[in-house]
Amino acid sequence: MKNQETAQAPEARVHWSSRWGFFLVTVGSAVGLGNLWKFPYMTGSNGGSAFVLVYLFCILLIGVPLLMAETLLGRRGQASPVGTMRLLVAEAGASKAWLAIGYIGIMGSFLILSFYSVVAGWVLEYTWQAAGGFAPAPKEAFGQAFSDLLANPGRLIFWHTLFMAMTAAVVLGGVTSGIERANRIMMPSLFLILLFLVGYGAFAADLPAAFRFLFHFDAAAINRSVLFAAMGHAFFTLSLGMGAIITYGSYLDRATSIPRICLQVAVADTLVALLAGLSIFAVVFAQGLEPAAGPGLLLQTLPLAFSQMPGGQVVGFLFFVLVVFAAWTSSISLLEPSVTLVVERFGLGRQVAVLLVTLGIWLLGVAVALSFNAWSGVTLFGLGFFDLLDTLTSKIMMPLAGLLIAVFTAWVMQRRHVADEIGLSGRSFSFWYRVVAFVSPVAIAIIFLNVIGILG
Ligand code: PHE
Repeated sequence: MKNQETAQAPEARVHWSSRWGFFLVTVGSAVGLGNLWKFPYMTGSNGGSAFVLVYLFCILLIGVPLLMAETLLGRRGQASPVGTMRLLVAEAGASKAWLAIGYIGIMGSFLILSFYSVVAGWVLEYTWQAAGGFAPAPKEAFGQAFSDLLANPGRLIFWHTLFMAMTAAVVLGGVTSGIERANRIMMPSLFLILLFLVGYGAFAADLPAAFRFLFHFDAAAINRSVLFAAMGHAFFTLSLGMGAIITYGSYLDRATSIPRICLQVAVADTLVALLAGLSIFAVVFAQGLEPAAGPGLLLQTLPLAFSQMPGGQVVGFLFFVLVVFAAWTSSISLLEPSVTLVVERFGLGRQVAVLLVTLGIWLLGVAVALSFNAWSGVTLFGLGFFDLLDTLTSKIMMPLAGLLIAVFTAWVMQRRHVADEIGLSGRSFSFWYRVVAFVSPVAIAIIFLNVIGILG
């Protein structure tokens, strides 16, 4: 088993044990802090339903077709993102410049995990506190508690270290006995907890207000920054362009139909975001709190709400456990791409590769943790290190990688290879192919250009 997992010959690559296994790990990658932390606060700060509408549009028009394309690349390559691109470039007789898709992916997942792990560390701290119950206190006290956490490098680094260790421990176990097994336990638990929370929201909080906030149609609230934010988020939440999907696709066997399973993954991911949004805003509105609280929404507003609600201790604890599971399964998919590259490139064993990559990401994460306190004065382009990494990855690298993936799949690869790999035919193939060839790249390009200010 071990040998199989570290072997380099494509035909020896280990595979998920079933299509259900692939579904779970990919949903595990997609559902993460993006759904539970970013989506609610971005929705809250970008006018609620306006953001939701554009986000749904981006998922459908850009996200789903690209998710299929990226999975297809990985499965055809049966190697790390870079190895996969090397093979596909050779097969298509294309320029080596296309290896950029692989390198951007590896770099992106490495960078994202460095700050993702710090945020997941905050969540660990709050899970710990939630277990003891949040003591009722005035609103300002919760804001202060969060600021105190950010101001404390020791605590941030402690939780970041623990979270990286948890992530590495799973990836050390290998593809099926580590990654797949962890997702088989965590993902179904996550869904159960979420259903419970929505039920709670319906009875104990203000679900109708949350519903209105998320789905009340208001086209006037859509502007450039909403567009850009929503597109970046559509990429982020589906784990696109950052090596994770190519890597997970490379462990997929040829028997599984890519389009159907990708659609199911996207539906599950969107459903989790919407349900989480509903239950979070139901609590926020029931307590008369501010939806546009920003990144602190999850960690300042919710503990305040939990401290005042009936059964708040149990509900609060379950909620944070859910967020930990979501973050953990996503981090696993952010660590694996670099690990598989190091194994493939340097012929190292999985254990050594996991340790090396984890150490690198951990170090960068320490810098992120310090950017909230000791190094808070250090900025580049007016952004602190944390915001810089977030902007660089989700607003620039992800759309760029997405654009390259779309163009490579539709314009560089041979059409019959693409058709053969995606397993669609007739009309449904031409439809998907045209979307990837024209609609997604044009949409990404327009939003890019628009934001840079070249267009209107
Ligand atoms: N999709 C994950 C989330 O929503 C984040 C992620 C991005 C994971 C890119 C892998 C690759 O939190």
